[in-house]
Amino acid sequence: MRHILVTGGCGFIGSNFIRYQLSEYSDISITNLDKLTYAGNLENLKEIESHSGYKFVKGDIADSNFVNSLLESTDFDAVINFAAESHVDRSILDSGPFIQTNIVGTQILLDASRKQNIKRFVQVSTDEVYGSLGLEGLFTEETPIAPNSPYSASKAAADLLVRSYYKTFDLPAIITRCSNNYGPYQFPEKLIPLFISNAMEDKDLPIYGAGTNVRDWIHVNDHCRGIDAALRKGEVGQVYNFGGNTEMQNIEITRVILKLLKKPESLIKYVTDRPGHDMRYAIDCSKAESELGWKPETEFQSGLDATLKWYQENLDWVNRIRSGKYLQYYDQQYGNRLNT
Ligand code: NAD
Ligand code: DAU
Repeated sequence: MRHILVTGGCGFIGSNFIRYQLSEYSDISITNLDKLTYAGNLENLKEIESHSGYKFVKGDIADSNFVNSLLESTDFDAVINFAAESHVDRSILDSGPFIQTNIVGTQILLDASRKQNIKRFVQVSTDEVYGSLGLEGLFTEETPIAPNSPYSASKAAADLLVRSYYKTFDLPAIITRCSNNYGPYQFPEKLIPLFISNAMEDKDLPIYGAGTNVRDWIHVNDHCRGIDAALRKGEVGQVYNFGGNTEMQNIEITRVILKLLKKPESLIKYVTDRPGHDMRYAIDCSKAESELGWKPETEFQSGLDATLKWYQENLDWVNRIRSGKYLQYYDQQYGNRLNT
């Protein structure tokens, strides 16, 4: 895999993945195609922008002419599709961009990859396509798809398209499904970076519902190693689950963050629940362990400590995001949740 097209590389996981690839492989060349939506940030890759193995191209995966000419003009070995609208709450406000990027964009990338005989297509998907668990059980790769939010429905639709291109056209595609990531460069609308940033400014931490919903947390570096293993060692047509073996209730994680930052629990505010809120996610990643030789390595406490330190040391990055358009979005959403 010498020349890789990464889509959505200016977001949280994509930027960590590109840094990981360039540090791990000396003979690799990466093209990063990103639309630079509100979540895409060139600053996330500032330190490698002049690396000889890296090139940035601004564009939209849902723009068929653009995607086709990019894939025709360069001989890519692999396409890794990270590009997506990724935030569940935004999909509840307006599902339009989710359908356009996550479904139509994936279809356009699949068609272009098929035309160019791409050797590997990796679709970066999510455990949310499986829906919600009760108190018991784990998602396996065989768990039926049952998405509950417009976001997860759009990701599930994309997964089904990927599967169909493998079955119908022999496109050498692999799907990965991971649980909740945390780590550096995560946009501060997601639980962990939002609560760290709010707590640092003594702002309220809005807990949806009773705070008993459970997520399985994985450090982004472990997810990036998993995608790399799927790309290089995965079998085409297969799905691989990745998880961190760290299930926590939202309220527990909130208390840990407050304790680490030495902030009072009075910052916790229980607010109106997210509609359709999935209760619990938990992953069986034994297939990735046995077939890819992968397992999560970052212990949650040390990963969270390092993440917290990163946000404290990168206040300029956080503040630039939080003082722009995002602030309006956040204040309005928080106000609505308090008042309903
Ligand atoms: P993110 O929102 O931080 O980044 C998304 C990136 O995609 C941004 O750089 C954005 O500019 C770009 N983008 C959006 N629409 C685009 C378009 N039409 N064309 C080109 N680029 C576009 O997301 P993330 O958290 O880094 O997630 C990356 C991928 O991983 C997504 O596909 C998501 O579904 C999946 N995933 C995320 C998690 C998680 O916990 N964050 C877990 C499992 C899977
Ligand atoms: O499981 C993988 C998924 O994890 C990814 O596919 C998504 O792209 C990613 O955004 C994430 O989805 P979640 O909805 O689980 O993440 P989020 O950080 O938005 O919320 C985590 C939990 O915290 C969830 O139960 C909702 C709750 N929450 C979230 C926010 C932002 C709150 O209680 N308050 C909040 O302000």
